Amino acid sequence: LFAQECDFLWAASSASQLPPPGAPEIAFAGRSNVGKSSLLNALTNRKTLARTSHTPGRTRELNFFGLGGDVDTARLRLVDMPGYGYAAASKQKIASWTDLMRDFLRGRASLLRVFVLVDGRHGLKPVDAEMMDLLDRSAMSYQIVLTKRDEVKAAELDKRVEETLKAIEKRPAAFPQVIFTSSQSFAGIPDLRAGIARLMAE
Ligand code: GTP
Ligand code: MG
Repeated sequence: LFAQECDFLWAASSASQLPPPGAPEIAFAGRSNVGKSSLLNALTNRKTLARTSHTPGRTRELNFFGLGGDVDTARLRLVDMPGYGYAAASKQKIASWTDLMRDFLRGRASLLRVFVLVDGRHGLKPVDAEMMDLLDRSAMSYQIVLTKRDEVKAAELDKRVEETLKAIEKRPAAFPQVIFTSSQSFAGIPDLRAGIARLMAE
């Protein structure tokens, strides 16, 4: 699946601009700067497919990428979402991003799963809990992906996974497995690809 060509398909900055539902979709959500766009590039083996940045708030729209085809023919769509919890953005902007994400996450039958990315150095934050509340309420299946594994000491890795699993234990829509990835060393990327392939086969 991930050996196929992946290209930009569509950008939406409001719910009325969403592409017509088609291929199954997988979305990547998470706090600003957690590494969503970088993970998308690592997954698809493309250095500059999704724009990454040191400055938080880089991704401002829902960006759709298609594997193996265009809007009508792609086998899978990957959706890069704007980051949440970005303190420096204006209230008005935050409100419009939040509305967009909420609209998208609620009524999207083609959306198979949302990967909620969490910085592996810091673990879950209150804003992540808010996102998980929204997903639980929407009965939208999601899975936590810890990022920046290359920046975490070996002795901390298991601890971080265990505290995360404990925190999602009672959450109804959370998939009870955590993947620890690095977009730099590619650690965990094969596991994430396998997880996505499995979802598509279901
Ligand atoms: P927004 O679009 O602003 O929400 O950010 P994002 O979540 O898309 O983050 P992005 O991929 O742009 O990465 C943010 C910063 O983290 C960049 O400086 C990346 O180089 C860095 N980064 C991302 N993934 C990793 C990783 O696995 N390891 C390390 N060391 N740095 C990473
Ligand atoms: Mg981004």
